[in-house]
Amino acid sequence: MKHLLSTADLSKDEAVLLLDTAAQMAATQSREIKKLPTLRGRTVVNLFFEDSTRTRISFEAAAKRLSADVINFSAKGSSVSKGESLKDTALTLHAMGADAVVVRHWASGAPYQLAHGGWLDAAVLNAGDGTHMHPTQALLDAFTIRRHLVGLRGGAGQGVGADLAGLRVVIVGDVLHSRVARANVALLHTLGAEVTLVAPPTLVPVGVETWPCHVSYSLDETIDQVRPDAVMMLRVQRERMSGGAGAFFPSPREYTRYYGLDARRLARLPEHAIVMHPGPMNRGLEISAEAADSDRAVIVEQVANGVAVRMAALYLLMAGDTSAEGNTP
Ligand code: CP
Repeated sequence: MKHLLSTADLSKDEAVLLLDTAAQMAATQSREIKKLPTLRGRTVVNLFFEDSTRTRISFEAAAKRLSADVINFSAKGSSVSKGESLKDTALTLHAMGADAVVVRHWASGAPYQLAHGGWLDAAVLNAGDGTHMHPTQALLDAFTIRRHLVGLRGGAGQGVGADLAGLRVVIVGDVLHSRVARANVALLHTLGAEVTLVAPPTLVPVGVETWPCHVSYSLDETIDQVRPDAVMMLRVQRERMSGGAGAFFPSPREYTRYYGLDARRLARLPEHAIVMHPGPMNRGLEISAEAADSDRAVIVEQVANGVAVRMAALYLLMAGDTSAEGNTP
């Protein structure tokens, strides 16, 4: 594993290794060992061409907890706003000795261009590209599901090596624009979970029938028929909807009525089911305050788990050996 570009590239062994390593990282954090010396003298660049709160901050925290030097680069206020190309930006990072580049970009595929363009000799970690992929988000989601639910319906059991076999995950909302949905479908399938996407027909991508998941247009039917272990609500990405009055169809009111997670739907979920959201949330649109703040919601925990998962990704890509042995922090 030289780069982390897509969850679709991960084998089951690689995905489990990332989750197991994240569990070890989380254990060091809970033992108050805040800083590990592992990446001392190495440089991680956070290269963000799109806004971010959670991903940028947690990658920075993860790199610092591994003792790496961190350079934060935001396209706003940089020479990108003067028209500098991705190639020239990459050559600049190379000249500064970047060992890893964490990149978020509005264009799907930009991290692949960085990884394979021959401009950089650094590990590239995709922190979200367009509507395509968000691999560390999916890994932290799988990590959170594993912590709460593995062992419930069988699978490989708790702890080291556990996969998500037998678990049912329902992903609801704006699938069309969601890199989180794409990343999760690929990873959850690899880990053995059964995934159902629920969305209005206007927010389902063309070609979804080739994805390894079920598709439904009714949230109420899905709750009753699938009896999910985890429900992941997606943000409605209004900034990616272009056009006139029909840009958001169904209307926000219809969307909330048919696809929103509110107290009534929350009460119909199985008792053990957890509620997830990658953030940022549109409270009152895809999720009500009662659902977001309920004791079933693990949304804040997802954010906390993001640091351990990103420490694991940086460690495995930058500290060398990524075989199943010899990777303990
Ligand atoms: N989930 C997520 O990617 O959030 P940010 O946009 O705040 O990084």
